[in-house]
Amino acid sequence: MSTLAEAIEAIRRIRPRRVVVFTGAGVSAESGIPTFRGAGGLWRDFRAEDLATPDAFARDPLLVWQWYEWRRTLIRDAQPNAAHRAVARLPDAVVVTQNVDGLHARGGARDVIELHGSIVRVRCVRCGREREAFEAFESLPPHCECGALLRPGVVWFGEMLPPYALERAAEEIRNADLLLVIGTSGVVQPAAGLVALHRRLSIEINPEASALSSACTLAIPATAAEATPAIVDAILEGRDA
Ligand code: OAD
Repeated sequence: MSTLAEAIEAIRRIRPRRVVVFTGAGVSAESGIPTFRGAGGLWRDFRAEDLATPDAFARDPLLVWQWYEWRRTLIRDAQPNAAHRAVARLPDAVVVTQNVDGLHARGGARDVIELHGSIVRVRCVRCGREREAFEAFESLPPHCECGALLRPGVVWFGEMLPPYALERAAEEIRNADLLLVIGTSGVVQPAAGLVALHRRLSIEINPEASALSSACTLAIPATAAEATPAIVDAILEGRDA
């Protein structure tokens, strides 16, 4: 484990220009959105792996949609927190997120790669038409105009990540001077594997040790909203000097 002061010192030394911020559910925890693993991660005793799959949707689309509507309502009512806002102060940072909540963009981030899609998008399972659906549906499960079921516009376990998103994320991470890894357990592939592509300074912000802690140069045991603003200040300070 490292201190925030050590991380700030390391950033001052390298004055990073190309910054990538890799995030997971923990970055939105302080906005009131429960993480998938750890305390509060279960919904009605189900784990994400039991619900976020094509099989679960084929078996019980209503149950899967009830879970997504619950998460969609929380997300609609949530606000970006100090970590989302701090990341957005980095004018040319690339945010690579596993989150489907859209809070980085709502917090002002300009360049967000959504590896796992977006919960405010829906797609027809038959005609493939995709559209935004921010508001709650009147009845569940929702249907397309063509009569078939709509599904959330997210990536489920066992499905491919959008190839362009994955390729661009890999490229940006490989070329970054500094990689911030915020609020992810680092256990879901292929997203978590992207961190291994980075060879320069990497700093994790997570109150708990994760599967990625030892792969990062420094790991700060703090919450996203506690530590991210000071880290961003240090990056920007380096640029003014
Ligand atoms: P997880 O729920 O697996 O992990 C959340 C991480 O956030 C944990 O390591 C926590 O210690 C950390 N954490 C909790 N509160 C925090 C805070 N306030 N500040 C910083 N960190 C905090 O979430 P992900 O790693 O995002 O995929 O999960 C990866 C994927 O698994 C998700 O994208 C989703 C899920 O199932 C799919 O649905 C395909």
